[in-house]
Amino acid sequence: MTILSRPWFGLTGHTISQEAIPYGTTALQSPKIRILFLYRKRPASWQERYDNDWLGTTGDSTETKDTQPGAPILAILYNGFKAAEEEPRLLGTVENRLGLQEWLTSQGHEFIVSSSKEGPDSDFQKHITDAEILITTPFHPGYLTADLFEKAKKLKLCVTAGVGSDHIDLNAAVKHKVQVLEVSGSNVVSVAEHVIMSMLLLVRNFVPAHEMIERGDWQVSDIARNAFDLEGKVVGTIGAGRIGYRVLQRLVPFDCKELLYYDYAALPQAAADAVKARRVEDLKEFVSQCDVVTVNCPLHEGTKGLVNEELLSHFKKGAWLVNTARGAICDKDAVAKALKSGHLSGYAGDVWNVQPAPKDHVWRTMKNPLGGGNGMVPHYSGTTLDAQTRYANGVKSILENYFDNKPQEPQNIIVGLGKYETKAYGQR
Ligand SMILES: NC(=O)c1ccc[n+]([C@@H]2O[C@H](COP(=O)([O-])OP(=O)(O)OC[C@H]3O[C@@H](n4cnc5c(N)ncnc54)[C@H](O)[C@@H]3O)[C@@H](O)[C@H]2O)c1
Repeated sequence: MTILSRPWFGLTGHTISQEAIPYGTTALQSPKIRILFLYRKRPASWQERYDNDWLGTTGDSTETKDTQPGAPILAILYNGFKAAEEEPRLLGTVENRLGLQEWLTSQGHEFIVSSSKEGPDSDFQKHITDAEILITTPFHPGYLTADLFEKAKKLKLCVTAGVGSDHIDLNAAVKHKVQVLEVSGSNVVSVAEHVIMSMLLLVRNFVPAHEMIERGDWQVSDIARNAFDLEGKVVGTIGAGRIGYRVLQRLVPFDCKELLYYDYAALPQAAADAVKARRVEDLKEFVSQCDVVTVNCPLHEGTKGLVNEELLSHFKKGAWLVNTARGAICDKDAVAKALKSGHLSGYAGDVWNVQPAPKDHVWRTMKNPLGGGNGMVPHYSGTTLDAQTRYANGVKSILENYFDNKPQEPQNIIVGLGKYETKAYGQR
């Protein structure tokens, strides 16, 4: 028998006050019986409440399935090569195996780790047929398509080492009753810091300035002609979840003219007031008001190609765009064209529609008419060493819960058994 009750997770933020969620939950369970206790917990900080309650999941399909010791676990990670040998804190690499090797072996599990992920002969496609658990990372995404789900007959759990599980076909996961979990919150500060850095480097025209110095040149006017201050600009985020909200928080001391957000989920009034953010409900209206737009929503059916030629035509001329969410949210060619024409002054981010990005990907070299405006880097904003510690620990804790048949943290569940648990991957 399972008793699960978390009704307050279904409340929407703007209807409740900060004091309205006084209870926490805990659960004990035997293989057959799960008992849920409600208890009064210490008042959480309001950032914690915002993340865990307002952004939280319903968490009502968190039952785990029976698991056998020795079940194969497959991890697709990126190669760290020399860097990973020299730096053991590069946990998210093939070499350092999320720091899980010893523990998993001691538990009797087979742990297969590889970076080979493309095509039928890849380790990913070879081993997915036997794996019970798949660990992937957005930084080197192993794309678990609907076709591969058909072959993954033994698969029960997908764990994303990081945040963002769009590389898993989530509708197929629902259909096949495979749970998808990620380590929510693990790298959101890392990304928010990168967003602020990217805004500054675009607005202040930093990259061409540095390149000029490396070349041995010195011509201040060539840089200053396209350098501005962030102060006094209108900055808006598409998506005001964990990252988007942290970006807004970090912008407050810059004295922007206004902070805006566009999200189908309204911020709790207290949260919006704390950063003085105004919600704009129409996307075209929203982008037409912004000097700087940052994208901080997940990639799903409703956001793929969201920033396309049509939407870009509603941007202010000379606006800057920062996207560390997912490359495919922005139309590759439309962005390159807008930058080339000067309609966009700059585009920066670390996410690409294909990863690793091909050598001739237009985003590597695109420039504005003055030869700047490109702040692209490889996908690393959420994989700082600090973040790697957090998401490696988070993956371990998800696996521990799974092996011990304990409920998972609700905020980590993207897809539960046969249904979406998150509210962030589109309105359903
Ligand atoms: N570059 C990196 O290293 C990196 C690291 C972490 C996360 N990310 C990306 O950032 C995304 C957001 O992460 P988060 O932790 O803030 O997630 P989150 O779930 O806390 O917040 C996502 C927000 O986006 C909103 N949203 C969803 N669809 C939308 C739409 N169509 N229009 C406007 N808003 C919409 C949701 O309502 C939610 O408020 C992740 O899904 C991932 O793709 C990138």
